[in-house]
Amino acid sequence: MNQDPFAELKKRQREMWASFAPTAMFTTPVAGHLVKFAQVAPGEAVLDVGTGTGVVALTAARAGARVTALDLTPALLEEARANARIAGLEDIVWTEGDAEQLPYADASFDVVLSQFGHMFAPRPEITIAEMRRVLKPGGRIAVATWPPEHLIGCMFALIGRYSPPPPAGASPPPQWGNPATVKERLGAHFDPPFFERGIMAFPALSIEHYRHFMERSIGPMQKLVESLATEPEKLATLRDEFAALVAPYYSDNVVRQDYLLTRAQAR
Ligand SMILES: C[S@@+](CC[C@H](N)C(=O)[O-])C[C@H]1O[C@@H](n2cnc3c(N)ncnc32)[C@H](O)[C@@H]1O
Repeated sequence: MNQDPFAELKKRQREMWASFAPTAMFTTPVAGHLVKFAQVAPGEAVLDVGTGTGVVALTAARAGARVTALDLTPALLEEARANARIAGLEDIVWTEGDAEQLPYADASFDVVLSQFGHMFAPRPEITIAEMRRVLKPGGRIAVATWPPEHLIGCMFALIGRYSPPPPAGASPPPQWGNPATVKERLGAHFDPPFFERGIMAFPALSIEHYRHFMERSIGPMQKLVESLATEPEKLATLRDEFAALVAPYYSDNVVRQDYLLTRAQAR
């Protein structure tokens, strides 16, 4: 019997994120920022949670760390392994698994990283306790998340308005982009966090190009559009709302996606 009340949600996530690989072109520079912000040093044992195609894991390995990376989605781990082969970084350990149930011994890592990954696990208190459990005493966590007040946070809220409600008890991912909430969630396990902000530049020939890309490669948007195939008027309204949301963030052929970085040391 499966004890996880969110098993169904995680099954959907696994299917949903399988189309994500083309987006990694744009998350690659953020990985550079995150690994530098985390102060990853040669020889450190690093875990990347929600690694996707491995952009953070490979960046940390290039900085000389001994890297383990975990993700829910096997299709993305295949891409990650291929990326590691291209980069000649064959020592990274890739694990299929869940941020809420990390398959590692206590105190295994010097640094735990997550770039737009751990925020999708439904129970923040369990996820953060797991990330702390596998950290050595004095180790550090560093994560990148989408603030609720900026484009991607608002986009998730828009998707939510057109979708069936999530299962009771599942926390909205962009809450992880609110510094006050992050501080509170880390409070029991970590010293007060440091924050930094950045902008992920997403090249696009038009807002419509951006929307096409999101509808093909961002699972939650892709699944929503598929679900509205028989409701063309609703789909058209969603697309209008999407374009209005993106417009203030689009100029000079770039969509600006603001993100938040958090770093904290384990108590
Ligand atoms: C937006 S992608 C980010 C991927 C990568 N870190 C990057 O920045 O390119 C979100 C990733 O989180 C993973 N994910 C979602 N829920 C997860 C969970 N509960 N445990 C582990 N990974 C999860 C997805 O499979 C997906 O690879």
